[in-house]
Amino acid sequence: MQAQDKFEKISELAKRRGFFWPSCEIYGGVSGFMTFGPLGSVLKRKIEDKFRGFFIRPFGLYEIESSVIMPGKVFEASGHVNHFKEPMIECSKCKRRFRVDHVLQEFAGMSDTETEKLSLQELANEINKRNIKCPECGGDFGESKQFLTMFTTTIGPYSGAVGYGRPEAAQGIFVEFKRLYECARGKLPFGVVQIGHALRNEISPRQGPIRLREFTIIDIEFFFDPEDPRCPLLKDVENESLRLILAENKLKGIKEPVEVTVKEALNKGLIKAEWQAFFMALSKHFLMKLGVPEDKQRFIEKLDWERAHYSVQGFDQEIFLERWGWVEVSGHNYRTNYDLKQHMEFSGVDMRAFKEHEKLVEREEAVVSPILSKIGPAFKDTASEVVRLISNANPKVVKTRFKKQGFYMAGRFKVLPEHVEIIRKEVEERGKHFIPHVIEPSFGSDRMVYIALEYAYKMKEDRVVLSFPRELAPIEMGVFPLVSKDGLPEKTKQVYEMLIDEGFNVDYDESGSIGRRYARADEVGTPLGITIDYQTLKDDTVTIRDRDTWKQVRSKIKGLPRLLHAFFRYKVEFRDLGQLIKS
Ligand code: GLY
Repeated sequence: MQAQDKFEKISELAKRRGFFWPSCEIYGGVSGFMTFGPLGSVLKRKIEDKFRGFFIRPFGLYEIESSVIMPGKVFEASGHVNHFKEPMIECSKCKRRFRVDHVLQEFAGMSDTETEKLSLQELANEINKRNIKCPECGGDFGESKQFLTMFTTTIGPYSGAVGYGRPEAAQGIFVEFKRLYECARGKLPFGVVQIGHALRNEISPRQGPIRLREFTIIDIEFFFDPEDPRCPLLKDVENESLRLILAENKLKGIKEPVEVTVKEALNKGLIKAEWQAFFMALSKHFLMKLGVPEDKQRFIEKLDWERAHYSVQGFDQEIFLERWGWVEVSGHNYRTNYDLKQHMEFSGVDMRAFKEHEKLVEREEAVVSPILSKIGPAFKDTASEVVRLISNANPKVVKTRFKKQGFYMAGRFKVLPEHVEIIRKEVEERGKHFIPHVIEPSFGSDRMVYIALEYAYKMKEDRVVLSFPRELAPIEMGVFPLVSKDGLPEKTKQVYEMLIDEGFNVDYDESGSIGRRYARADEVGTPLGITIDYQTLKDDTVTIRDRDTWKQVRSKIKGLPRLLHAFFRYKVEFRDLGQLIKS
């Protein structure tokens, strides 16, 4: 039998111990959907809360929650209806469908850089040229087409109202920009985050928790003034090093990253926007906090044809995983004013920001000036309404209408060229309107769960220990009576209740030998084990066992809250607890 690789070992453990498993298993499951079990959902929540403590709270970003289903218009405006497609090919015999580029990568050894730049027809030609057959039944491939990967639905009982399941949480932020800008009291920069489900109807997802059709995305949209793109926080990260695989090197086939500081990357123009570099440095640190060392991380720049339609520069943060190699965990895109501009155009709503000049600026401006001596007789008792409407009209539009159709409709009134003149007038300008630019860091929450598991997975004396950073551990401590008799379970339950009241996640376990119970706790990454033994009954002391070193210290029960808060909240090391017990 072939030895299991790490992914298989983790998947087996994840199912058996309740981290995650494929959804709807009783019906045979359906790839791309996953259920998080009791431990997995706590782990995921803890990662997301850590994200909040790392990215949201320190920088005063706003977190919002918008709807998963949105009207078709939103995604027509955002460009997803046109661009969110994958090249698909169908087997003419078994009718199974595959992603053409994936088939070429898997069965013809082409790289994703090679396949990304080929059109649908070129991809299909490659399949024919190389005589590649259906991997499932050996049949000939037939028709290829672009497949829209958004889930389409209808809103309400009338089939006319098309809706889509959002493929990213970002659009829920862009469409609400007007109100969010008010929440920010009209000041830039500010950032908005959304942690929520997104849906992508992938053609053939085959990478377990790494590629899902329904997943949790964490999108940050950070809005700033393009005339003031400085990031005042840059000094905190400017000497951080980033491992970058630049697009130009990628094209030359150079696979090794260049290592540069954030400052160098900006000075040399390798990263275009300061806020983008800032968030990339932060993201490297965040993944380190999840247990991924620096040398297992890199940022790979997207080539022109690989970038999403809204992006002028994009880097994927990649993490090395044993089975798949380098896998994207976050994307960092400079989206410019693309999305807000599109939504302004499609909705007709002005979402521009406004900034005041330091002092009033005087300038000349074209205005439409009504000629009262002509308007009075022409419009009689509605003349004042016409004057109001025409005074607010855009002179350019009025001029064009006169030229093209000979009149301009001001509301319901037909205004002729003889009724108005376009004059130049001195105006005082208080400030100016502009469309903010956006930097977007975007993370896959489910992938982070798998990554945290893979990097925590260790073997110690032939046993599995999940060495999670302590703040991620789904269960913080196990409490164990040494034996299930002589009053030890009752005493243990008192300790259990006290610890629950202190706000800890505690597991009570009395089944099997104490060794088995420690092993069970290590296997799910529980950092501490508290054992109640015969000595407890004499002097009210318990042992505290460390998951990683298997060392133990003894403490009075009443001293436990102080010790445990020191360990979990203030990150006092286990080896220093003995000192704390004495103090
Ligand atoms: N909003 C990030 C993405 O679509 O990947």
